[in-house]
Amino acid sequence: MKELRVQPIKDGTVIDHIPPGNALKVLHILGMGLTLPDSVISIAINVRGKRGKKDIVKIENRELDPREVDKIALIAPNATINIIRNYEVVEKRRVEVPDEIVGIVKCSNPNCISNGKEPVETKFIVKSRNPLKIKCYYCEREPEDISSQII
Ligand code: CTP
Repeated sequence: MKELRVQPIKDGTVIDHIPPGNALKVLHILGMGLTLPDSVISIAINVRGKRGKKDIVKIENRELDPREVDKIALIAPNATINIIRNYEVVEKRRVEVPDEIVGIVKCSNPNCISNGKEPVETKFIVKSRNPLKIKCYYCEREPEDISSQII
């Protein structure tokens, strides 16, 4: 049975295999850099997939920029990004958490050099991937809730 709750889209991007309950965080990330504010977005929360429950976000007539994909990887490390053209999946990519996360997460330590007056780009080193644990390259602070620190 194909999934019936949310219709297939003609053109755009489907972010699939988002951990259940995290679709709104993905939308928040997309909202921050939305270039087409009138694009049609559908979400499915807690739908049953082949490997248990998941969330799905479908964005019509829009593709994601690499920075958005990097951010999504932080909250949905097993997500796939599907590009749809004329109803067909023409590209399917797994998101990837890089070894170093540069410029997309803010350090939660107010005294960190990356939060100072001089512009120093934030940088985190990945300590573990499952569960995802990162630490600041400069002050070694580990954010407790990574998703709330995404810039
Ligand atoms: N999809 C869509 N509109 C289309 C084609 C596909 O919304 N015109 C959605 C599907 O509902 C699915 C995702 O895009 O959520 C990926 O489609 P597909 O690769 O056909 O599904 P699966 O084989 O189940 O994907 P996977 O193996 O990644 O689980």
